[in-house]
Amino acid sequence: MENKTDFNYPHTFILLGASGDLARKKIYPTIWYLYRDNLLPEKTKFVGYARTKQTIEEVKEKCNKYIKVRPGDEEKYEKFWANNDYIAGSYDKRIDYELLNQSITKYEKGPVANRIFYLAVPPTVFEDVTVNIKNACISIKGFTRVIIEKPFGRDDESSNKLSNHLAGLFKEEQLYRIDHYLGKEMVQNLMTIRFANQIFNPSWNRENIASVLISFKEPFGTEGRGGYFDDFGIIRDVMQNHLLQILSLVAMEKPVSLNPNDIRDEKVKVLRHIRPIELDDILIGQYVGNPDGKGEETLGYLDDPTVPEGSVTPTYALAALHINNARWQGVPFVLRCGKALNERKAEVRVQFRDVPGDIFDGHAKRNELVIRVQPGEALYLKFMSKSPGMKFDLVETELDLTYSMRYSGADVPDAYERLILDVFTGTQMHFVRNDELKEAWRIFTPVLKKLEEQHIKPLPYVYGSRGPQEADERLSSYDFKYSGSYKWKKPATVEKS
Ligand code: NDP
Ligand code: BG6
Repeated sequence: MENKTDFNYPHTFILLGASGDLARKKIYPTIWYLYRDNLLPEKTKFVGYARTKQTIEEVKEKCNKYIKVRPGDEEKYEKFWANNDYIAGSYDKRIDYELLNQSITKYEKGPVANRIFYLAVPPTVFEDVTVNIKNACISIKGFTRVIIEKPFGRDDESSNKLSNHLAGLFKEEQLYRIDHYLGKEMVQNLMTIRFANQIFNPSWNRENIASVLISFKEPFGTEGRGGYFDDFGIIRDVMQNHLLQILSLVAMEKPVSLNPNDIRDEKVKVLRHIRPIELDDILIGQYVGNPDGKGEETLGYLDDPTVPEGSVTPTYALAALHINNARWQGVPFVLRCGKALNERKAEVRVQFRDVPGDIFDGHAKRNELVIRVQPGEALYLKFMSKSPGMKFDLVETELDLTYSMRYSGADVPDAYERLILDVFTGTQMHFVRNDELKEAWRIFTPVLKKLEEQHIKPLPYVYGSRGPQEADERLSSYDFKYSGSYKWKKPATVEKS
C-alpha cells in the first residue's frame, strides 16, 4: 500500500547491513544529522539489522568516531540512540525477517505506518534480502520504500537481471536507486544554471561549445579496498554512474516541468543519443608507487595485498562520448576520473569555441564555464576583458560565484542527507530510474568487455600525479584547449570549505 507522505505518521527506517562500513561511516551519521535538525517525522524509529550479534550500544560505539556532535547536542544525541534498535539475523532466512517484522510492528501505533528499508549490503546477498523484505516485512498500513546502493550490476546483462528481479517484487515508485552525486549541491544546481538563465540557453549547443570535460579526481588509492575495487575498476565505480549522471544533466533538453519523471525522461532521451564507447575513445591508467613519496604514496595499485597479481583493472580512465543529436553532434563530452591523483576535485568545464573573426592577434582565450562540485562549491566563467587603465590590452579574468564568499555561513547539506530526506518525502527526482540505468550499461558494456577480453594494459601513472601523460594529448585531441595562461587571484576573504 503506497500512502501519501504524512510526517505525522510513525515511520521506521530499517538499515540492513548495519554492521558494515557504509552504515557506520555514512548512514548512521546521516540519520543523526537529519534527526538533530528535526527534519524527519517526529515518530521515526531506526532499526539496524545485520548478521553480527551485537547490542545497539556496540553499534553506537563503532559509529561514534564518524559522527559529529556539536557542543549542546549531547542530550539529543543520547535521545537519538535511544530511538535506535539493533536486531541480529541472517540475510537468507525468512524466519529472521518475520522476527524483524514483529519488532517493527511494535512501534507502529495507529492506523497508518510507513517503512523505509536501506540496503547497505553486498551485492551477493541482495536478492535474498529483497525477496525476504517482500515476503515478510512489507508495511500493511502504509508505504514501503526501498533504497538501494550501487553497484547495480556489473554489465548490461547482470543489471537487467537485477532490474527484472526488483521489478518482480516492487513497483518502480517504491525503489530509490542512489547515485549520491545527484545529491550534491552543484549537481542539483545544473538545471537551475541552465534553465533559469536566458544567457546560457541560446549558447548551449554545438555552434558555441567546443567540448565539455567532466572530471573526478581523488588523492588516495584503494587502500585495502582493492578486493572490491578490482572486480569493478574506476569505469564502473565512478564513470558509468556519477560522471554519466552529470553528463545527462549538462546535455539534456529542457524538461516539460520539474516533475521527476519529466526530468528523467529527458535524461534518458539524451543518453539514447549516445552510441556505445569505442576502444579508440577510451584511455586507461593504473597508478604505480611514487619512490619520492611518503607512506601510502610509495605503493602502487599492484602493491595492495588485496589486489590480484598482475591485475589490469584501471584506476584512471578518460573517455569521449559523442551525442548524436541536433544540439551536440560533433561536441566531445570527455569523462575523466582517477584515484591516487594530485588532488581531490570534481568539476564540469564547458569550453566555448574560439571567437570567429579575430581582431586581437590571437590573444583572446576561450571562454570556459567551470562548475566546481567539490571541494568548495563554485561557478566561474572565464572571460576576456580590457586590462584596467590606459592600455588597450586584453586580460583573462572571471565572473566568480564562490559559495563560501557569496553565501558565507550557509549550510550546504551533505548529499546523503538530502537523498535520505527525499525518500521520506517521496521525491524521486534525484534517484536513478530503471531505464536510465539500462542506457548507462548500453553505453559502457561493450567497451568494458573489450578491455577485459583483450586484457588491455593500463598506462602507468605515478601516485600523486595528474594521471598518465598521454591523457593531456588525448584531451587536446577532443578540442579541449588548455592555455596555461589563466591566473586566479584568491580573494582575501575566501574561506576554506
Ligand atoms: P586553468 O585553466 O589554469 O586550469 C587549471 C587546470 O588545468 C589544472 O588544475 C589542471 O587540472 C589542468 N591542467 C594543467 N595542465 C594541463 C595540461 N597540460 N593540459 C590540460 N589541462 C591541464 O585554471 P582553473 O580554472 O582551474 O583555475 C585555476 C585555479 O584558480 C584553480 O585552483 C581554481 O580552483 C582557482 N579558481 C577558483 C575560483 C573559486 O574558488 N571561485 C574561481 C576561479 C579560479 P587537471 O589536473 O584536473 O587536468
Ligand atoms: C563512490 C565510489 O561511489 O564515490 C568511491 O565507490 C569514491 O570509490 C566515492 O571514493 C567518491 O565520493 P565523494 O562524495 O567523496 O566524491
